[in-house]
Amino acid sequence: MKLLDRFFQNNREWADSITSVDPDFFSRLARQQSPAYLWIGCSDSRVPANEIVGMPPGELFVHRNVANLVVQYDFNCLSVIQYAVDVLKVKHIIVCGHYGCGGVKASMSNTKHGLIDNWLHSIKHTWLQHRAELDALPDEATRIDRLCELNVIKQVSAVGHTTVVQDAWDRGQALAVHGWIYGIGDGLLKDLDVTITGREQLDPVYRMND
Ligand code: CO
Repeated sequence: MKLLDRFFQNNREWADSITSVDPDFFSRLARQQSPAYLWIGCSDSRVPANEIVGMPPGELFVHRNVANLVVQYDFNCLSVIQYAVDVLKVKHIIVCGHYGCGGVKASMSNTKHGLIDNWLHSIKHTWLQHRAELDALPDEATRIDRLCELNVIKQVSAVGHTTVVQDAWDRGQALAVHGWIYGIGDGLLKDLDVTITGREQLDPVYRMND
């Protein structure tokens, strides 16, 4: 018996359920993908991108990493953004964090977790930057959840700071970057209302002119 047999059984049932309603679904998708959205989310198993927004295959281009970070020298994330913007011409980039994020929680502690502590390091900067606000909150869970929001807001700016996104805006390509957060406890998304659609919304320090 095949290891993880259940996965293959589930997969056949899933594919059948789609083709029974729309027989050409997969052959149509196989010809090309033209998603309008790039989703940058956390690797957390409880935040499956397509599922929580009810999107079928073909609608979302997805990049996930621990704590949904956009780091300027992470060529994995940058390559995803570049391909999504320049080739697929997505209209929206959504950075979606989630409350109770283990990555954010780990960065707020002094416990060693290994290699991952290096990846999470930049969250400590966000913590320091907002320390007064966070210290004034009543308990640790509330502080972590607020830092989850602040982390998303910071990553929205980081997407805007990339040369890829600024070049797209220079070309007059319509591109909006959004910051959302997901509640693992209630399954609901919240818009943090930090959408940026042009360079003028970035701090002047980060604006790049020709
Ligand atoms: Co997380």
